[in-house]
Amino acid sequence: MDPITNPYAPGAGTPPPELAGRDELLRMVSIATQRVRAGRQAKSVLMIGLRGVGKTVLLDRMREDAETVGLQTLRVEAPEGRSLPAILAPQLRQALLRLSRSEQARDLGRRALRALAGFAKALKLKYEDIEVGIDYEPEPGLADNGDLEHDLQALLEAAGRAAQAAGTALILFVDELQYVEEEQLASLITALHRCAQRQVPVMLVGAGLPQLPGRMGRAKSYAERLFDFPFVGPLDPDAARAALEVPAQELEVMYEPAAIDLILQATECYPYFLQEWGKHAWDTASASPITQRDVETASIEATAALDESFFRVRFDRLTPSEKRYLRAMAELGRGPHRSGDIANALERKVTALGPTRNQLISKGMIWSPSHGDTAFTVPMFDAFMRRIMPGEDWRLS
Ligand SMILES: Nc1ncnc2c1ncn2[C@@H]1O[C@H](COP(=O)(O)OP(=O)(O)OP(=O)(O)O)[C@@H](O)[C@H]1O
Ligand SMILES: [Mg+2]
Repeated sequence: MDPITNPYAPGAGTPPPELAGRDELLRMVSIATQRVRAGRQAKSVLMIGLRGVGKTVLLDRMREDAETVGLQTLRVEAPEGRSLPAILAPQLRQALLRLSRSEQARDLGRRALRALAGFAKALKLKYEDIEVGIDYEPEPGLADNGDLEHDLQALLEAAGRAAQAAGTALILFVDELQYVEEEQLASLITALHRCAQRQVPVMLVGAGLPQLPGRMGRAKSYAERLFDFPFVGPLDPDAARAALEVPAQELEVMYEPAAIDLILQATECYPYFLQEWGKHAWDTASASPITQRDVETASIEATAALDESFFRVRFDRLTPSEKRYLRAMAELGRGPHRSGDIANALERKVTALGPTRNQLISKGMIWSPSHGDTAFTVPMFDAFMRRIMPGEDWRLS
């Protein structure tokens, strides 16, 4: 059928035509953010899930919902290798400038901008990547200690007070939180804790890979009590069906039930894969309804497309020894696997492989569901590894 009208949207952070199966989570976050504005207790929320389950599109939707009801928001993504203060500062400045435009929040908004100026100046030595426009001179003693833990607390508190004066709350949306250094994560946790204790309306809605709760716990032992960690997984079968059928129905295209069943089976209801299969099934079919035959053909193309994009971008960032480690894991199946079994497959000692394993964890490729266990963070990565490194060559060298 016409590829121009194809409704499906595979891609990192690309909003799906139908955001299926996430209503409960959206509602939970909407209630929590509005409770914070009302001066009520609510935990910050960190969505945890594997690659491609829809964390980023959820964050974006939650942010839109928050803005619709008049909450003040900022949205950042923690990239590998940049500091948290550096990514927060410019977005915080924008939010504070917006807040300062309201009559009631003008003075506290300016005070928070002074706090930001002090913060940026004092921390610039340690975090050289901080670049932010300065609108007001710093106020001596306000968020300018040069110590992140202290200064972030003072800054978020000042920002939250400004939001409060404007009758709103400040909601921080942060993606890829697992990449934030533990020490910076600890400062963020402390700052949020302090705001909660003082009933300052600041809240975090974050997303990250499954290693995040463990990192948070190591950064601050009380973190687990301070946050909700909803798990974002594959869709349930009804939601997966809706993700495929609703966008097609809007264009008067139907699926044969067997065609849908085959897609659910091939994708295991993982959102990214559903979009990829939907897209190729649509392009393959010559007319409605989309048949099981169409899906069989489309499966080959969808797999090839994933191999060239979703899986490939991850594979290309790996060193040769990291590739061998993942290939050995793949040989054992989908996992999780014991470190000892992986080492055996490579005919190496567990300790000798420790550094490679740690690099893979910090790159976000694998995580440890429990002590000594290792699992992929990308669904179906085992099958990809066997396709991209076929045969036995990986055992050599
Ligand atoms: N609830 C949903 N229903 C249908 N499709 C969805 C849903 N959620 C996400 N998708 C689709 O899945 C794909 C991946 O979404 P997204 O990039 O938000 O995942 P992610 O969890 O952030 O992945 P990563 O960890 O790689 O950043 C996108 O193409 C998106 O349109
Ligand atoms: Mg994402």
